Amino acid sequence: MKKYVVAGNWKMNKLPSETAAFIKELALKVEGAVAEVVACVPYTSLAAAVEAAKGTCVKIGAQNLHFEDSGAFTGEVSADMLVDMDVEYVIIGHSERRQYFGETDVTVNKKVIKAIEKGLKPIVCVGESLEEREQGITIDLIRSQVKIAFMNVSAEDAAKCIIAYEPIWAIGTGKTATDEQANEVCAAIRVVVRELYGDSVADGLVIQYGGSVKPSNAAALFGMSDINGGLVGGASLKSDDFAGIVKF
Ligand code: PGA
Repeated sequence: MKKYVVAGNWKMNKLPSETAAFIKELALKVEGAVAEVVACVPYTSLAAAVEAAKGTCVKIGAQNLHFEDSGAFTGEVSADMLVDMDVEYVIIGHSERRQYFGETDVTVNKKVIKAIEKGLKPIVCVGESLEEREQGITIDLIRSQVKIAFMNVSAEDAAKCIIAYEPIWAIGTGKTATDEQANEVCAAIRVVVRELYGDSVADGLVIQYGGSVKPSNAAALFGMSDINGGLVGGASLKSDDFAGIVKF
């Protein structure tokens, strides 16, 4: 049976004091959903989110981690710190981290390896800019992003990851990729994973689409052959909208 994971990416939104009530409300609204539900909240909201999600179907994730275990990295957060808080998922290599904070395919790879080593489930983001799409290099670029992100990652470990395809031009712009555009790239991701790791990892892998997912377009997107749910930004900040997407 096709597997679905819908993850919310709150980005730099919501206060710690708003978090518990929101997660509890969301948990009630998504109860019984077929899709697994994840909320990736700011570091400052993690404690409240983990506590509020206990005993519910909502899983909690962080939005980043550092690839070293500890040390002189002012302002950074390690995998052990997240694991110690019972955080289960972590977004890695979101395009905003690549764009504003200098993350590269190589740092993404280091973070994927560290997250897996510590037992966190990575949501690895890939995606092209509008310029790259217009150049006709989308598939080449995505293939290379996936290959570098998964360097020195075994098949067994790759199977624990989620890959999120997020075209940069569709993030926060209200401009969603068409179902066919989104599925074409998600299918290409499955092909590269098949080349690297074989059929069972490729067939079982959760590949999400992200970029202006809304309750009104979720069903069509998630109904495509190679899309197993979504990574949702703006619409994950309203419990009705997010629940509507989860229950597509
Ligand atoms: P959006 O963001 O849903 O607001 O477009 C998606 C994301 O950045 O993960």
